Amino acid sequence: MRPRRGRSRSGTGIPRPLHLWWARRPLAACRAVLFAQLVDDPSAWPERFPTEDAQEAERKRLHAVIAELVKWENLNDETVLNRARWEIARSVAWGLGEEPPARDDGAAILAYLQAKAPPVYDPFCGGGSIPLEASAWACGPMALTSTPLGADLEGARRDPTEIRGPPAGSSGP
Ligand SMILES: C[S@@+](CC[C@H](N)C(=O)[O-])C[C@H]1O[C@@H](n2cnc3c(N)ncnc32)[C@H](O)[C@@H]1O
Repeated sequence: MRPRRGRSRSGTGIPRPLHLWWARRPLAACRAVLFAQLVDDPSAWPERFPTEDAQEAERKRLHAVIAELVKWENLNDETVLNRARWEIARSVAWGLGEEPPARDDGAAILAYLQAKAPPVYDPFCGGGSIPLEASAWACGPMALTSTPLGADLEGARRDPTEIRGPPAGSSGP
């Protein structure tokens, strides 16, 4: 039910009155799916979580992070976002054989992700829900779509100053 609020048009600070692109994915769902793709399941680290019980406990802890992340009222909550960013940074760091930045250092976490997190690539981005949410994780989203209207909507949602409008002489979309 929560993602439904991501489709309402009021009181969000996000330019929602824009045309709703076909099959636009709910932001909360994109956020949760990206998090799940970027954070390792604890079974990937048997030396750190050696038993099934330890893995399950860690999995539950990560699920609780997702449960907070998808609440509409937490959309722009930097404390919640930083907690989730740290989980991503930890997975990236462990994968690289490095130590993650300190949990309470939001600036260091963001800088680490900007430098080391893998890019998120959406080759059919349409209105751009996935790249928009990937930018919350500093994952350097790369997005592609075949229609100029979809591309303009994607740009406008990521950065409202980027609205380019139809080419000169065209009658619009
Ligand atoms: C269903 S929409 C994606 C909606 C998006 N997930 C969102 O939440 O806004 C699919 C997009 O893929 C684009 N598309 C379809 N075939 C394509 C192709 N061969 N290359 C690039 N984009 C393509 C369409 O123009 C459309 O914008």
